[in-house]
Amino acid sequence: MHADIVVLPGDGIGPEVTAAAVDVLRAVARRYGHHFRFDEKLIGGAAIDATGTPLPADTLDAAQAADAILLGAVGGPKWSDPNAKVRPEQGLLAIRKALGLFANLRPVKPHVAGLGASPIKPHLLQGVDLVVVRELTGGIYFGRKQRSADSASDLCEYSVFEIERVVRHAAKLARSRSGRLTSVDKANVLETSRLWRDVTTRVIRDEFPDVTLEHQLVDSMAMHLIAKPRAYDVIVTENMFGDILTDEASMLAGSLGLLPSASLGEGRCGIYEPIHGSAPDIAGLGVANPYACILSAAMLLRHSLGLEGEATCVEQAVSRALDAGFLTADLAGEGQRAIGTRAATQAVIEQLELPCQVMELRD
Ligand code: NAD
Ligand code: IPM
Ligand code: MN
Repeated sequence: MHADIVVLPGDGIGPEVTAAAVDVLRAVARRYGHHFRFDEKLIGGAAIDATGTPLPADTLDAAQAADAILLGAVGGPKWSDPNAKVRPEQGLLAIRKALGLFANLRPVKPHVAGLGASPIKPHLLQGVDLVVVRELTGGIYFGRKQRSADSASDLCEYSVFEIERVVRHAAKLARSRSGRLTSVDKANVLETSRLWRDVTTRVIRDEFPDVTLEHQLVDSMAMHLIAKPRAYDVIVTENMFGDILTDEASMLAGSLGLLPSASLGEGRCGIYEPIHGSAPDIAGLGVANPYACILSAAMLLRHSLGLEGEATCVEQAVSRALDAGFLTADLAGEGQRAIGTRAATQAVIEQLELPCQVMELRD
């Protein structure tokens, strides 16, 4: 198939991990006879430096016309002055909003190679396989913001429509898995959470009677998530809670550098982005873990291009590279050799060149 993929490297380790994912996508195209065209555009701090704005019109135009978008990360100390007029992160929020990407899927499935790096006891991690569906275009991120000399405020707002559509998305996903859905809120304190709980209860009762819904308060959820992660399948939550809980959940996998995501809307085009940031502390050193971005590319193949077999083969290749001990510094334990970004990427590409069961079965 032909596909136009817009690549937004961004800042810090963003360019290093997107380059890795593009190499893997090129290998997929070679192996399975597809034609992917990559169009690189500016976003974030890099775009501020070049054009003065974190989301240039040219980037948004290209994204709107693309079949899918692969994004690295934005931000960094250079642009982090609290009084700065423009910020890299505004570019990311603006593109998610402009494309209507309200559902951010963040799967967490620990691999045995991450056990050593995880601070959680291995027996708690066996069989963990969950997906957080994070609402991505509403809540406190997008409400009115105010700042005066002696106070500041961020408004948290949700409409029934915004809650319904993300809950439906999560419920369909739950239905395709174990049928269990956990909705996370702070309904004991926040009005937006009380609306969230009402709407979620109604949508599941009326439209998804086969889905089992459980409500959980976000503070105790933060505890349960690491105390009994196997208890969860699909978790749906509002924007900021989902942001925080998934960085926490990355410790189930052992590293932020292992968690991919897909930001989806009503159409087929989505943004595929690792959940981690620009990691300024390791940027430019060639040591960033590329697996989260490569696994995001696998989600791109699945969700935007409909290439389920190829997506599974990429996931399998990452898994086999990990099995074979190709560990970046964030994963390597004492006595284990740490490899760099390029070597990890090469390991995935080599695995991809071996037979992939899914595709063999299909042929
Ligand atoms: P971060 O995720 O960039 O880094 C947190 C820690 O995890 C660092 O020690 C980093 O080295 C490590 N890490 C992250 N990704 C890694 C990888 N692939 N391989 C190895 N180690 C990795 O979070 P932060 O330091 O709080 O934020 C830095 C900047 O990134 C901020 O400007 C923030 O706004 C931005 N950010 C952007 C995104 C995004 O673009 N989607 C996401 C989160 C944070
Ligand atoms: C993420 C990031 C972003 C968010 C920031 C950089 C705006 O933390 O993608 O998780 O909070 O959504
Ligand atoms: Mn985040």
